[in-house]
Amino acid sequence: MKVTIQNLTKCFGATTAVNDFSAVIESGELIALLGPSGCGKSTMLNMISGILPVTNGKIFFDDEDVTELSPEKRGVGLVFQNYALYPHMTVLENICFPLEIKKVKKEERVARAKEMAKLVHVETLLDRKPSQLSGGQQQRVAIARALVKHPRILLLDEPLSNLDARLRIEMREEIRRIQQETGITTIFVTHDQEEAMSISDHIILMKDGFLQQIARPQELYDEPANCFVADFLGTPPINKTYGVVKNGQIVLEGDCVVALEAAKKLDEGRQIILSMRAEAIVVNGSDRLTEGIIDEVYVMGKEVLAYVQLGSRRVRAYVEADKEYNKGEKVNIGLKKRGVFVFDKETGERLV
Ligand SMILES: Nc1ncnc2c1ncn2[C@@H]1O[C@H](COP(=O)(O)OP(=O)(O)OP(=O)(O)O)[C@@H](O)[C@H]1O
Ligand SMILES: [Mg+2]
Repeated sequence: MKVTIQNLTKCFGATTAVNDFSAVIESGELIALLGPSGCGKSTMLNMISGILPVTNGKIFFDDEDVTELSPEKRGVGLVFQNYALYPHMTVLENICFPLEIKKVKKEERVARAKEMAKLVHVETLLDRKPSQLSGGQQQRVAIARALVKHPRILLLDEPLSNLDARLRIEMREEIRRIQQETGITTIFVTHDQEEAMSISDHIILMKDGFLQQIARPQELYDEPANCFVADFLGTPPINKTYGVVKNGQIVLEGDCVVALEAAKKLDEGRQIILSMRAEAIVVNGSDRLTEGIIDEVYVMGKEVLAYVQLGSRRVRAYVEADKEYNKGEKVNIGLKKRGVFVFDKETGERLV
């Protein structure tokens, strides 16, 4: 099922949690709703589920306007961070429960619940109580319970936050598998960029209630619409330097002149941010756009990360593992096309 969100706004008193938000989520996709704490992700999800009334705007499930429908009538499956299983019920009873409410006959209820238990790989745990399950198992049961009604859409709000790092990775792959096996349109809320990057078809990145960009994961990384998007994605975080356009070049703080070809197109005197991913900075390669000074070098398994002084800022750059660099050594700096961006300093808007 396709979801269309039109100019959605949610105000809580003076706070606008979601602001004039429009997006289309294609049928069968897994979409990550990504952004820092407090940016409006849960508010957005709760409006889609019908738990929260909207202040303004419309939500369509396919062609049906569901904006005023109750959560039950929308046909949504919900999973939250705290598993919220019924502690006194067994796994089987938990999964059956939504069907019991819908007055589905016992036999069919059990058959459907068992089918779901199989899908999420808890079929051997049916007689246990939630307290006898690990966090990952509890979350599997919560997903089975959300899916047993055959909802039109699956909505997950930080479903993996209570799990340890390894289990998080295993479970996010499981969510992707379950989503692909069922083909159900899924919205997955997370503030973890890696989680979002690894499993989704598209990512919606939000900040302060506003949509920043909606794109495929790689596109979001390679073609950020603004400085916030570039900052939000990537490990190590993107290097940010500040400067001004002068004589068709960029002059960074500390009088570091960068002969960036693309700077020729920029307005003279414009205050900018030059952002460079660590893998886009080439130390002592064939191109020389500027000069830097080696500060520290860290060997991290197969990769070597150097801290290089560029003007008054230190940037991180990956360097070749078989070369030696010494603290204080002058090096030539080149920049790849991919992973180098220029943003307007005031607005954060992408210029290059
Ligand atoms: N019921 C409410 N009453 C008043 N303000 C609210 C309410 N719910 C959310 N807010 C505010 O709306 C904004 C967005 O909150 P929301 O819970 O949607 O953020 P989030 O992106 O889900 O954050 P997190 O990652 O921490 O869960 C915040 O400023 C929050 O304080
Ligand atoms: Mg939230």
